[in-house]
Amino acid sequence: MIQQPAPKTPTFPLTDNLGRVINYVRLAVTDRCNLNCRYCRPKGPCSEPRRELLSYEELGRLTGLLVGMGIDKVRITGGEPLVRHGMLDFFRRLRAIQGLRQLALTTNATLLAPHLATLRELQLSGLNISLDTLKAERFAAITGQNLFAAVFEVIEEAIAAGIPVKINAVVQEDINTDELLDLARLAENRPIQVRFIEPMPFDGGSNFIAGTWNLARLEQHFRNHLPELTETPQVGSTARIFQPSGFTGSIGLIGGYSRCFCATCNKIRITPQGMLKTCLYDDGVLDLKEVLRTGATDGEIADLVRACLGRRHADGFAAASRRQQDGMAGSCASMATIGG
Ligand code: 5AD
Repeated sequence: MIQQPAPKTPTFPLTDNLGRVINYVRLAVTDRCNLNCRYCRPKGPCSEPRRELLSYEELGRLTGLLVGMGIDKVRITGGEPLVRHGMLDFFRRLRAIQGLRQLALTTNATLLAPHLATLRELQLSGLNISLDTLKAERFAAITGQNLFAAVFEVIEEAIAAGIPVKINAVVQEDINTDELLDLARLAENRPIQVRFIEPMPFDGGSNFIAGTWNLARLEQHFRNHLPELTETPQVGSTARIFQPSGFTGSIGLIGGYSRCFCATCNKIRITPQGMLKTCLYDDGVLDLKEVLRTGATDGEIADLVRACLGRRHADGFAAASRRQQDGMAGSCASMATIGG
């Protein structure tokens, strides 16, 4: 009898119309936050109606389905994810999904301390913490809360617990640009990555000014003032990573505004209200909440997601100009409703 070859484990690379493999979803689980960072939150009243969030049940179902389609990395973002009740149980539930390799969290760390041990047990693969300054007063001015010391302490605890930590610093001209080197030097003796993010026009509709601290200027600044930088080549990463000579950790530069990483973008996003975004700069391409609540089967949802990926914008400029054509340019988009 002829021996049949052992069946290969099926893989389903999820790809878009341009052949980019999609393996990463960012789930924004709430648009609420206990901080009020000027570059993230809408200022004053926002006309966006408050709509219902996806339930944990719905988020779990969607994640399982997406993992079945080829997603293997999930990042939980917000708003601030830890303000939502039951978050840790949701993490446990996600951890049980077969095929999900990486589970990561982006947080402002103000509510993190009591959860560190559990997150470590759940083998969190990455903890990204927002921190724009090392000065307590400035932290209070940027975020509206006097919580610098508490945040810094929990960062040190997370590092000591062995959780892979990245710091996200949004580069804000004349607000924290005098501290970029001090922030970078956090990586000198700590095994962390400090990432500098170009500000993006997601502050809820106020007049955004890009400023002059673009990627090129940041790179030059660090080359001029830090020990020699060696760039670590990345595949499909939104950040350019550099290791200053003698540093334990590294620094990262994220051109969120320059949009120089779109050609290899591997991620999709789901907003707290269940809109699927296939680009940070699009306006949402599928209302998953409606799809879920009108009784669609898993197969139908998968087909709808694939169809959206079949018409994905080439880059963030194309997505933004589409928004403009659709008259959405002045809308209330804030990072708090997108999750970064
Ligand atoms: N521009 C750039 N980065 C932003 N973030 C939030 N709002 C903005 C913005 N307008 C960053 C925060 C957070 C990450 C997910 O996104 O630093 O850590």
